[in-house]
Amino acid sequence: VKADGLAAGKGVLVTPDRDAAVAHATFWLAHGSVLVEEFLAGQEVSLFLVSDGHTVLPLSPAQDYKRVFDGDEGPNTGGMGAYSPLPWLPDTFVDDVIESVALPTIRQLASEGTPFIGLLYCGLIVTDDGVRVIEFNARFGDPETQVVLPRLLTPLSGLLLAAATGQLGSLPRPEFSTDVAVTVVLASEGYPENPLTNRPITGLADVENVTIAHAATALVGGEFVATGGRVLSVVALGADFTEARSRAYAALDIIHLEGGHYRTDVAKRVAE
Ligand code: GLY
Repeated sequence: VKADGLAAGKGVLVTPDRDAAVAHATFWLAHGSVLVEEFLAGQEVSLFLVSDGHTVLPLSPAQDYKRVFDGDEGPNTGGMGAYSPLPWLPDTFVDDVIESVALPTIRQLASEGTPFIGLLYCGLIVTDDGVRVIEFNARFGDPETQVVLPRLLTPLSGLLLAAATGQLGSLPRPEFSTDVAVTVVLASEGYPENPLTNRPITGLADVENVTIAHAATALVGGEFVATGGRVLSVVALGADFTEARSRAYAALDIIHLEGGHYRTDVAKRVAE
């Protein structure tokens, strides 16, 4: 059951419990429309493709962690972490998605006189019956972008220029580092329902081997404070997922936000 008009996946209830689905739909029907979708069982994959309106070039697949708590428990969020690449995907996955999802979409939009030039975000579920589209976005994904772009060896600017000028067909596929990447989101107490903000964040100057992506922070009197639900992400690269995870979580041990919470199982399933 999906409540229409809410941002970043919030308001979506994915459940096998019919009573919970009815209660959720009844609540949101009082506020607007409700969309009921087929339940798709399987791993979620985000694949970003650059499009010039006629052809596409794929970036590297990533996986988002949508639920707020470990073990995919709790409500949906905008995304609590991500990793890339996805070693469990078949080698043909990206080509299959280009042929069965991305190119038909791009061609249809072109045939309607509205060619799509930009970043096509394919939100996919790998079901037992094949790949299904759960959503499209006309933008990069957050937090998946934090694990895709640090691995991109091909300059992004050249890809975007080729997309804007209709030249993507003359470029080879973008190349990616063999390093893997993990990002973990630090969220405010109460996120996603009712985040408590304006609390200080400490330790940011002391972390090593990671990049901090600020999302909802502000500098107040020389001190960082949290200003929203998803506060910041800790992005780590590594030779393998064990290394990238240990770098990310070591940094999160140092960073402090009162009541702050993060998932401890991001990329756990792919770490050796
Ligand atoms: N991480 C989900 C999104 O960007 O929509």
